[in-house]
Amino acid sequence: MSASSAGSALITGASSGIGATYAKRLAARGYDLILVARDETRLETLAQTLRQQHQIEVRVLRADLTDAEDLLRVEQELRNNAVITLLANNAGMSVDGEFIDADIDRIQTMLALNIIAPTRLAHAAANAFRARGRGVIINVASVLSLMHEMFNGAYNGSKSFVLTLTRSMQRELENSGVQVQAVLPGATRTEIFDRSGKSIDELPANMIMEVEDMVDAALMGLEAGEAVTIPALEDLALWQDYDRARGAMLPFLSLSQPASRYRDGG
Ligand SMILES: NC(=O)c1ccc[n+]([C@@H]2O[C@H](COP(=O)([O-])OP(=O)(O)OC[C@H]3O[C@@H](n4cnc5c(N)ncnc54)[C@H](OP(=O)(O)O)[C@@H]3O)[C@@H](O)[C@H]2O)c1
Repeated sequence: MSASSAGSALITGASSGIGATYAKRLAARGYDLILVARDETRLETLAQTLRQQHQIEVRVLRADLTDAEDLLRVEQELRNNAVITLLANNAGMSVDGEFIDADIDRIQTMLALNIIAPTRLAHAAANAFRARGRGVIINVASVLSLMHEMFNGAYNGSKSFVLTLTRSMQRELENSGVQVQAVLPGATRTEIFDRSGKSIDELPANMIMEVEDMVDAALMGLEAGEAVTIPALEDLALWQDYDRARGAMLPFLSLSQPASRYRDGG
């Protein structure tokens, strides 16, 4: 291991797109890296480049995160490797088509990758980091977590899950020395579109962010201590108002009596 004071970052989905860009940016910040994905050749190529450019240690951990045994190996790495200080919970996929028309078996695989894997990895990392009083967990959600009516509801729901899990973890890990961030990218130019049988060029150009800009913004948000980072959102008050309105409802959502409009004579 190199003499990195930042420690090691474990990045899932590091073979392309957002994950590969996190790898490059974290390498430049002096992190040693553990790169996780299925395509070992691509991971090794990236690892080689980053070792040469930054004189850091880079390990490749090949894993299909929809496979229970592979997922367990990555969890064990997070639990047992005490030099890991950052988890980028990033691997994910989408499916072609809207929910009802999409292939239900692909949807199940997507839910395994987008929900089960990040949940188990976040759990392993949170326990390890809390015990050491230090660590960072980046959970990559999506702006589709807020766009309930668009695209594929199962994908959006998987990202709403990540957002909810993150907010809840932030409460549980308050004052523990562990920082947890939800990142909500909008459409970002990566392979995720081609992989799910779509073309990113079907979207208006002004909706698409370059992956380097997205990750740089997300890391600025992390370093500023943001709980939720929405790289494209200029008017932060819009998010804050939304979140405040949600908070204002909380005391009234679970009460002994139905609301008066549901009562006789209400
Ligand atoms: N691009 C966007 O517009 C956008 C917007 C919002 C959120 N996101 C989210 O950003 C994250 C990264 O996506 P991306 O846009 O960078 O897409 P991408 O370029 O397709 O990258 C996906 C990564 O996940 C890995 N992966 C896929 N299936 C896997 C599996 N079964 N096991 C382990 N790794 C697997 C892929 O590597 P291998 O194929 O080598 O396994 C790849 O490294 C995802 O969670 C996605 O939902 C993307």
